[in-house]
Amino acid sequence: MTGAFEPRNIIVTGGCGFIGSNFVRWVAREHPAVHVTVLDKLTYAGNPANIAGLPAERVELVVGDVCDAGLLDRLVPGHDAIVHFAAESHNDNSIADPDPFVRTNVEGTYRLLEACRRYGVRLHHVSTDEVYGDLALDEPRRFRPDDPYRPNSPYSSSKASSDLLVRAWVRTYGVRATISNCSNNYGPYQHVEKFIPRQVTNVLCGRRPRLYGTGRNVRDWIHVEDHSRAVWDVLTRGRVGETYLVGADGERSNIEVLREILRLMGQPEDAFDWVRDRPGHDRRIAIDPTKLRDELGWRPVHTDFSEGLAQTICWYRDHEDWWRPAKEATEARYDALGM
Ligand code: NAD
Ligand code: TYD
Repeated sequence: MTGAFEPRNIIVTGGCGFIGSNFVRWVAREHPAVHVTVLDKLTYAGNPANIAGLPAERVELVVGDVCDAGLLDRLVPGHDAIVHFAAESHNDNSIADPDPFVRTNVEGTYRLLEACRRYGVRLHHVSTDEVYGDLALDEPRRFRPDDPYRPNSPYSSSKASSDLLVRAWVRTYGVRATISNCSNNYGPYQHVEKFIPRQVTNVLCGRRPRLYGTGRNVRDWIHVEDHSRAVWDVLTRGRVGETYLVGADGERSNIEVLREILRLMGQPEDAFDWVRDRPGHDRRIAIDPTKLRDELGWRPVHTDFSEGLAQTICWYRDHEDWWRPAKEATEARYDALGM
């Protein structure tokens, strides 16, 4: 048994996005001896306000692109690990325009792997359970790490491609890397384009929530803080070259989640509109997190979904100044798609 890896100086790519910023705040709180350099391009999904107020001597923001090899040559030496969250992350956007997905998710991961190879830096690659495709609604099994990759959208196929690059760089070049594939996250600082924040902010704005297709599609929800801890556990104690699936036994159909939001917000349970389905819409996604639990002892803390959802709703109620600037443009994009 080898000792744990104890990083002191890490780069967090995409640290101004939803999960990346939650991770940066979590590290700043739980591991105050660690210095974090956030590398973020500040796309429409990145907001420096997400990491505002953290101690400047421990958290530094570098605005830049993970595809910029010259920047990586200047930035990476001297760090002992990269935690790679940066990505184009929204399925609906990937269907409308796959271009930035291939560039950032595939080429960006390739550039980081090359930098890790050159400078001997460890990498933790953050990925999604959607690389495994979907399950039928009545299929009892859940995804396990050795299942075949069967991605269905431009987003998930670009993430699958990036995972495969990581695998090959470990095997061929000996890069010290780990991968985690997580289920759907919820919590504060999630962009209003995503399912839960979209519906919550719709209600707060007096718009009707929108449900795709039949509403029976199932996602496996996990609180973003539980994901942050899992990423840290895999980075510091995971075995190089291994994949860990992250999930919190949180399977729910979209209509169940929407009805719970409506209930918690004091709305009638039918106060929403059905809209056209997403092309290629994954039916059911479910994670078996046994390996993460057994090998690393990880357990979710946020096990009461209704309570986590109620706290998330409160956060959006209290932070209208944070989400309001993105709301109108996001809904205009959805209106154009009829969704
Ligand atoms: P997000 O869209 O909220 O944030 C992405 C961040 O990456 C933004 O800050 C953006 O500015 C930055 N970025 C984009 N392109 C970049 C580039 N070329 N160079 C540098 N920075 C760039 O995404 P998220 O929901 O926080 O997801 C983070 C990661 O977690 C992604 O890799 C995603 O695939 C993965 N993931 C997300 C979920 C989920 O439920 N949201 C679930 C599992 C895995
Ligand atoms: P989303 O948050 O986009 O995450 P993902 O595509 O990674 O699962 O969507 C979650 C689920 O909610 C997915 O089945 C699509 C559905 N959905 C709606 O029904 N209405 C919406 O307005 C959105 C954004 C998503």
